[in-house]
Amino acid sequence: MAVQKVLRMGDPRLLRVAEAVGEFNTPSLDRLVDDMFETMAALDGAGLAAPQIGVNLRLVIFGVEANPRYPEVEPVPTTVLINPEITLMSEAMDEDWEGCLSVPGLRGLVPRHTHLRYSGFDQHGQRFEREVKDFHARVVQHECDHLDGILYPRRIRDLSRFGFEDELVPGKGAEKA
Ligand code: NI
Repeated sequence: MAVQKVLRMGDPRLLRVAEAVGEFNTPSLDRLVDDMFETMAALDGAGLAAPQIGVNLRLVIFGVEANPRYPEVEPVPTTVLINPEITLMSEAMDEDWEGCLSVPGLRGLVPRHTHLRYSGFDQHGQRFEREVKDFHARVVQHECDHLDGILYPRRIRDLSRFGFEDELVPGKGAEKA
């Protein structure tokens, strides 16, 4: 296992549409998942998509533990999500601050759907499905956007709400994904 270099915005590999994972339960897939978790932990991220470390596969990981210092951040279970599909459960959207390990130091106010169902596979090929809302739904949309070559700045409606985290209003940060 090893911490991998995270590509930064501007690298054309972040703009690709990733390819579906075709084979599960393989040593190389296990190693990729391990590397991604190690990389995410080293950078204190909430999520990471395989394309961010230069692997063009439809695989994301995410997870946010409950933190008494940030009671407003709802926990999200540690998840490996492969070949994801998202079904919107509502047209409703909400805006909140996001960051991204590929856009270090910056934050932006991003509209996201608030209620969706997602399905996919874990690294063993086990299919699962969840219906989620709000922050969990936001994290999933952010990560799955990476699989279609979309970084969150492209989702920002008002670019006056995009800036360096240490210049923005204190206390309105977001998890880095
Ligand atoms: Ni990201």
